[in-house]
Amino acid sequence: MTDLYAVIGNPISQTKSPFIHGLYAKACGQDMAYTALEGPLGGFSGAVDAFRAAGGRGLNVTVPFKMDACAYATTLSERARLAGAVNALKFEGDQVWGENFDGMGLVRDVTHNLGIALRNKRVLLLGAGGAARGALLPFLHEQPASLTIVNRTLSKAVTLAAEVASQAQVTACGYVGLAGQAFDLVFNATSASLRGELPPVPATVFAPGCLAYELAYGKGLTPFLRLAKNAGAAPLADGVGMLAEQAAEAFLWWRGVRPDTRPVIAQLTVPLSGS
Ligand code: ATR
Repeated sequence: MTDLYAVIGNPISQTKSPFIHGLYAKACGQDMAYTALEGPLGGFSGAVDAFRAAGGRGLNVTVPFKMDACAYATTLSERARLAGAVNALKFEGDQVWGENFDGMGLVRDVTHNLGIALRNKRVLLLGAGGAARGALLPFLHEQPASLTIVNRTLSKAVTLAAEVASQAQVTACGYVGLAGQAFDLVFNATSASLRGELPPVPATVFAPGCLAYELAYGKGLTPFLRLAKNAGAAPLADGVGMLAEQAAEAFLWWRGVRPDTRPVIAQLTVPLSGS
């Protein structure tokens, strides 16, 4: 019987997940269907109950339901717990497993696809919202020399750093606190690029040969990437690889097979160009 999966969000028309999982299923010879569900606002659990009653085996979860999915899961991974957000659910009888693969996907894109290690590097993470939370544990797992979290609202960065303080060299600061500091990898996990805005990050944060990574996908040369480029950062990357890799992690979790992400990345890559 064909196994049923879907992505749930609202709105959902923009999602690339059915395309991605469709390619993975075909390449891996998996008998599964993957569709997009528009969940009613305020009606997440009812929509998921109905999906499970129809035989659904797993869901990807996107905006605005990642926190609802956290509450819906009966068992959360450590990553999902710290992120306070779930982007993948797996249903086994009454058990509902909640996972967050965004940060893992990001790390795999950087280390595997871009070939850049985080180990012993100075890492700067811009933002302290959901995207930054998701990246935190997977980053620390790679044992960077230091991890600095910077946020416009300093208290949120401080809270986030305190949650993992026992684990490593994590510090929090505001943007003015970045003066005079340089980093080997800089990740923009703020939502600024979605509105064409530039976080107030000084151009001096980019050390020579620094990776500048925009977690948003498909926006071309965002203000953050443009700043990085002008400051001499290279390489530049956006979140297309992260998108493909988090989907691959979910696919592996559900199906026990890791798909090759390269064809998906090749098809979804938007050139990093712009005015
Ligand atoms: P997401 O789930 O995408 O992370 P979020 O949880 O709303 O979204 O978090 C958005 C993040 O982007 C926050 O860290 C926010 O900073 P504040 O906590 O100070 O609001 C950050 N952000 C959004 N617009 C920004 C801008 N123009 N400059 C700097 N940071 C910005």
